[in-house]
Amino acid sequence: MIISVLNQKGGVGKTTLSIHIASTLALAGKSSLLIDADVQRSAMDWAASREIEPIFNVVGISTNSIHKEVRLMGDKYDFIIIDGPPRIYDVAKSAIAASDIVLIPLQPSPYDVWSAKEVVDLVNEVKETLSTYKSIKAAFVINRKIPNTVIGRDVEEALQHYNIPVLKTHLYQRVIYAETAARGTSAIEEDPESMAGKEVKKLVEELLRFSKPTKSAS
Ligand SMILES: Nc1ncnc2c1ncn2[C@@H]1O[C@H](COP(=O)(O)OP(=O)(O)OP(=O)(O)O)[C@@H](O)[C@H]1O
Ligand SMILES: [Mg+2]
Repeated sequence: MIISVLNQKGGVGKTTLSIHIASTLALAGKSSLLIDADVQRSAMDWAASREIEPIFNVVGISTNSIHKEVRLMGDKYDFIIIDGPPRIYDVAKSAIAASDIVLIPLQPSPYDVWSAKEVVDLVNEVKETLSTYKSIKAAFVINRKIPNTVIGRDVEEALQHYNIPVLKTHLYQRVIYAETAARGTSAIEEDPESMAGKEVKKLVEELLRFSKPTKSAS
């Protein structure tokens, strides 16, 4: 299964989520590959800063031929996660075309609701181009939610008009996400019983339920 994590807006958590999803799946015994599609190479920097044995590989492909490369590699892995770049349209479109699921992280802010239009339009555009792309699914996930605030609910409501579901699992603002990133690990890997570890596991479980039935079974 191919999951891309995309948003044209920068800094919404694409790399953080990609790494955590890949880590969760790898820890569950699934063979996983993370494709870093961003020329900033954050995911590759993350992998380079790791001192312990990797649990999944990270490769950099930031061209508009991701969908072709993934087709060649797809059978080798249970899961391929694509960490998308901000702003670059042709690479994002190629990542969408490669995907079974497009996960769109955003922060609970009206700016993020408005700017999500760009990635939603791209998903719809790709889906129109080929009949095999029609089955690509997309979902929003709210990231960096602040406890005891209602803005998350407001944002969820505001997102309704895009006709793309919002996953029930939200990720909260937690310093462990950045702390573990600095060590090339992840919250779920360092402490699966932490709040972050638990919410990420829940997110992946929801994502897998959401994926059924898939374009290509895995
Ligand atoms: N839930 C969270 N709690 C706390 N910090 C977070 C959370 N999610 C992301 N961050 C932090 O926010 C910053 C941006 O996150 P990240 O790099 O994952 O976003 P991005 O969408 O990949 O950015 P870019 O568009 O530049 O690639 C990072 O410093 C990351 O550690
Ligand atoms: Mg990134």
